[in-house]
Amino acid sequence: MTPIAYMKRTLAGALPIFAMMMLALLTGCQPKQDAAKPDVSVAPAPDAATLARLGRAMFFDVTLSASGRQSCASCHDPDHGYGPPNRLAVQLGGPHLDRQGRRATPGLAYTLNATPIWTHAQAASLTERLTETDNPPKGGLMWDGRFNSLHEQAGAPLLDPDEMANESRAAVVAKLAATAYAGDFRAAFGPDVFADVDRAFTAAMRALERFELDDPSFHRFDSKFDAYLDGKATLNAAELRGLKLFADPEKGNCAACHLMDRRADGSHPLFTDFQFAAFGVPRNPEIAANADPAYFDQGLCGPKRTDKADRVAYCGMFKTPTLRNTARRGAWFHNGRFHSLEDVVRFYVERDLKPARWYPSNDKGQPVLYDDLPPEARRYVDHVDPPFDRQAGARPALNDAEIRDVVAFLKTLDDGYAAPPNPTRSALSTIGAVTSMRSR
Ligand code: HEC
Ligand code: HEC
Repeated sequence: MTPIAYMKRTLAGALPIFAMMMLALLTGCQPKQDAAKPDVSVAPAPDAATLARLGRAMFFDVTLSASGRQSCASCHDPDHGYGPPNRLAVQLGGPHLDRQGRRATPGLAYTLNATPIWTHAQAASLTERLTETDNPPKGGLMWDGRFNSLHEQAGAPLLDPDEMANESRAAVVAKLAATAYAGDFRAAFGPDVFADVDRAFTAAMRALERFELDDPSFHRFDSKFDAYLDGKATLNAAELRGLKLFADPEKGNCAACHLMDRRADGSHPLFTDFQFAAFGVPRNPEIAANADPAYFDQGLCGPKRTDKADRVAYCGMFKTPTLRNTARRGAWFHNGRFHSLEDVVRFYVERDLKPARWYPSNDKGQPVLYDDLPPEARRYVDHVDPPFDRQAGARPALNDAEIRDVVAFLKTLDDGYAAPPNPTRSALSTIGAVTSMRSR
């Protein structure tokens, strides 16, 4: 999202101008950085390779869960870009693997060592708001950015009653002490490491973090699109058309948020800007918690995240996910509402053009737009970033054939591209076969 788009969005939905001026007066004119502090606590630790090896063992270890049947990899499968291996909107967990989570499981590949800490550089004054200095919030882990480091985050699934469901840190440490690799933990952290629950737990979280940051399987850069960027593959006609539509601000405008240019250091793009946006994705009846009409998952303003509950302009905002390996998913968006990639792209194109197709009707037969947000938060939904800038009656940004082309392009972002054999260039195809890292 561009700063000007974010500014227009907040202005469109937000307070009347005079209230904003009062706010500007009250808050003074210094630029404010509303950012959480990075975690700088440093525990004595073994070398990175040892840590990562222990972290890998933990990541795939089902004995660390209350059920004894769930590991991190059960929800974050390496063959699916470390995203879910099934089509469920939300995954099951808990002691008997029968408790539903409330959000779709994101893929972990590519983003973890590039996610900035959560921050919102806010406009200091109305003048700044009216120029291009106001940016959307950005960064942090989870759909709502509530953790700033992987070692902080890693404890959450281990203790979440809907996920690995351990009762306490002590329960996790007791399980860890009984694993086949407990000896390696002692060798790395000292023979008495398991005697001190906090020390052992912290060590374990550092190990998980090191694995997630360093293991090459999180950063394969071996999709067809990567090969294309390196001049080692050509895209077919549909994929090329899709690429152009994805990039074109007048058509998909997808690359405005799902960044597709090489990064500053020349590395290949990650297809996210880590910024937050509110799209008003329809409510998902597959999530049992949604049976309660008073329950709303509003992302940045709660309820999972608790420190921004008073910021109504944040309500409904979720972090832009990477689109690498997105075609390997079976459910899309933060609530897993859609089960086909074509529906996702069509929603972008048609949300306000054909709302009756996407939202349920009220008793007067009118569609209830943005029904997964409480009424007071609905006016903050993005109407500024194309293709969400179009109103009923406007021409759709993409027609059916173009939607299919965008989907064809998205499929080039899956890891594990194996170059098709090329009989006229046998030497090259041999290299292709050797270097391709297809894992399935
Ligand atoms: C039952 C399924 C499940 C299990 C098991 C699970 N996760 Fe997750 N994971 C999720 C969901 C759902 C989210 C998003 C939660 C949210 O936004 O509130 C998530 C988010 C994450 C994120 C943030 C990703 C990002 O880009 O913001 C990381 C990192 C992560 N999980 C690591 C782990 C680790 C490490 C483990 C094992 C200790 C684990 N997960 C176990 C479902 C799971
Ligand atoms: C203004 C920024 C923005 C633009 C423009 C944008 N996206 Fe997104 N995209 C997001 C955000 C934010 C989400 C998460 C929204 C949610 O779950 O509530 C998302 C989610 C998605 C997802 C689901 C990914 C997942 O893991 O669930 C897909 C697929 C996707 N976008 C594709 C596209 C395509 C294709 C386009 C162009 C037609 C596009 N996006 C344009 C910000 C953007």
